[in-house]
Amino acid sequence: MKVCMIGAGYVGLVSGTCFADIGHNVVCVDNDEDKINTLKKGDIPIYEPGLKELVNKNVKAGRLSFTTSIREGVEQSLFLFIAVGTPPKENGEPDLSSIEKVAQEIGAAMNEYKIVVEKSTVPVQTGKWVRTVVERFSRQMKDFDVASNPEFLREGSAIDDFLHPDRVVLGVESKKAEEKLLELYKPIDAPKIVTDIASAELIKHASNSFLSMKISFINAISILCEKSGADVLKVAEGMGTDKRIGRAFLNAGLGFGGFCFPKDLKAFIGIAAKLGYDFGLLKEVERINQEQMLGAVAKIEDTLWNLRDKKIGVLGLAFKPNTDDMRFAPSITIIKELQKHGATIKAYDPVSMTRAKTVMPDIEYCDDAYQVAQGADAVILVTEWEEFQNLDLKRIRDSMRQPVFLDGRNVFEPDKMKELGFIYSGVGR
Ligand code: UGA
Repeated sequence: MKVCMIGAGYVGLVSGTCFADIGHNVVCVDNDEDKINTLKKGDIPIYEPGLKELVNKNVKAGRLSFTTSIREGVEQSLFLFIAVGTPPKENGEPDLSSIEKVAQEIGAAMNEYKIVVEKSTVPVQTGKWVRTVVERFSRQMKDFDVASNPEFLREGSAIDDFLHPDRVVLGVESKKAEEKLLELYKPIDAPKIVTDIASAELIKHASNSFLSMKISFINAISILCEKSGADVLKVAEGMGTDKRIGRAFLNAGLGFGGFCFPKDLKAFIGIAAKLGYDFGLLKEVERINQEQMLGAVAKIEDTLWNLRDKKIGVLGLAFKPNTDDMRFAPSITIIKELQKHGATIKAYDPVSMTRAKTVMPDIEYCDDAYQVAQGADAVILVTEWEEFQNLDLKRIRDSMRQPVFLDGRNVFEPDKMKELGFIYSGVGR
């Protein structure tokens, strides 16, 4: 089937490539000429394991192409996926102007029946606006459908998440759109949940908020664990083994980041308020998350006494492993707070340092974890990259000025770290 994916960002590029890989004919459109040229050359503008190979494989097979022209994409495709960005405005509301622009261009280029599918995360009722705009710009052509097909893939495991999802959600307004979308997703072996458009839109926000809530919940529990001598890993296991709760997303740490949870949470609180509901529960999720990041700095200060002129090493900068994404990364909040207290920062991340330098030009970037530890008064592990699990910890300890280690993702065993001579703390252990 013919698919036009508008927006070659994270979601668009991965989804478009995966649609091609399951046999469809896909054209990815983006108005960023540099990005499209990069893709045409076989390079990938983002770091995502396996994506480059998959893009090249499908380009070679003739199923995947790139263009900057929406018209070209619209004319040749049945499905028009909108996967453009919805970045937060100053007040936290999502900026939907790119979606509007794309809907206008789709309307203007519409030549026959199409299914316009929202893939970007959007507030409930956006579908209605997309329909209105497409209608107006297509000179009142009404033979098209709007649908909502939220994406649940995660950065770092995006391809596998797309190809093997827990479910596919299809919000539709006609039987025809439902049948076509079910056909499109036929090769994907997962339950298909068919709903109305508003429900599909809400499912996305509700899911992301719920997952954020799980993380803040376990982070709040981690504080109680620290105060009572309990171990949050055991508590999470004990809770998570109950099928009704589930173990996933109960990893205590230094808070959640990334371009989805923090922004979607804020947006959802705003959407609820607009609909006349004060979602206090989610405001608390946000507050706990913020405090969890700042709590790391308080812990280091408690151990070192003063932060002024202390050298703090940071292991991992990306908002999570297997991505170079620095957007809303907890490392930024933590580092800025440490700097505010007068500390100087040395840091290392296996892939995100180029991006990190644009947000935090004023820290010392190191070649590896050992260089970070050299002369440091404390080291904080912020992102649990696999390579940190295999560090020569003795070497780390010996090169530090003071062996203070804050394991922000509970990668190491507390007893072992203490045996090695570290002044060690984890999160909730
Ligand atoms: C998240 C959702 O998991 C995806 O389903 C969704 O499609 C995506 O947002 C989106 O809306 O686009 P992502 O932001 O890529 O995906 O990353 P996650 O793996 O969910 O992690 C988010 C943050 O939560 C990270 O900072 C991670 O370190 C943190 N986290 C996650 C925890 O602190 N504890 C956990 O147990 C799990």
